Amino acid sequence: MTVSDRPVALVTGAGQGIGRGIAMRLAADGYAVVINDVVADPHNTEQGAYEVKATIAAMDGCAEVFKADIAEAADREAMVDFIARIFGRLDLLVNNAGVAPRQRTDILQAGQESFDRLMAINLKGPYFLTQLAANRMIAYKQAGVVPSPRICFITSISAYTSSPARGEYCVSKAGLAMAATLFADRLGEYGIPVLQIAPGIIATPMTAVVTAKYDKLIAEGLLPTKRWGQSEDVAKVVSAFAAGLLDYSTGTVIEVGGGFGIKRL
Ligand SMILES: NC(=O)c1ccc[n+]([C@@H]2O[C@H](COP(=O)([O-])OP(=O)(O)OC[C@H]3O[C@@H](n4cnc5c(N)ncnc54)[C@H](O)[C@@H]3O)[C@@H](O)[C@H]2O)c1
Repeated sequence: MTVSDRPVALVTGAGQGIGRGIAMRLAADGYAVVINDVVADPHNTEQGAYEVKATIAAMDGCAEVFKADIAEAADREAMVDFIARIFGRLDLLVNNAGVAPRQRTDILQAGQESFDRLMAINLKGPYFLTQLAANRMIAYKQAGVVPSPRICFITSISAYTSSPARGEYCVSKAGLAMAATLFADRLGEYGIPVLQIAPGIIATPMTAVVTAKYDKLIAEGLLPTKRWGQSEDVAKVVSAFAAGLLDYSTGTVIEVGGGFGIKRL
């Protein structure tokens, strides 16, 4: 089996939005990037996972697409096996894929279907993908193949901010925040740092449907930094983590929210 000369990063949900920004940044940093997404059409290089792959290739980077649903155990296993087969190493896992409720519904009325969907994608998927990846990383590190494996979780300010019209999203992200804490604790003895990144209001296809709402809130002073966040703002923190600049900060949260978390009078 050949082992990639470049460090290898798996970014889930990298076909658009924040994941795309992270994939592009890591490719520029010299990573071979595995672009995972549940939607991936090889005939469409205009948008989605294959656009990201083509853009990275055009900048002399290295990327592969792996279509998989992170909520499905068989998909997760196939993806980690693919990485082992094609690259022979995994240096960085970025748990980015996540979904918002299809429609916002008051917590006093919301049903179980959306709750179950969000728990499966936003929490169960990254939880068990991290379990799989971490075991591989421990083996790669002990074999001397990967010197410094790392894992990061893209949670949300919704992990600690109440939005009663999308309670299932907040609960899924609060659970994911604890998953990050648990893996940071467990993987400390193996020298695998785990970071949690909590984005605020970031301009992506996910938030495109609520542009007017957030434009208004930002104009009214919700954030000390009076602008939307961009995918690149999140990608810069992943890049610093990937470079080893935050290793002793394992288990902590970095909010990328333009000062959202500052208590103000
Ligand atoms: N945009 C924001 O303001 C914001 C704020 C805080 C946190 N986040 C989180 O950041 C992450 C990325 O958000 P985004 O705004 O880029 O979203 P997005 O909807 O624009 O992109 C998410 C990507 O994940 C993919 N995906 C969805 N379900 C998947 C699955 N089961 N398996 C694999 N891929 C799947 C989608 O196809 C899509 O390409 C999410 O976890 C989201 O909760 C976003």
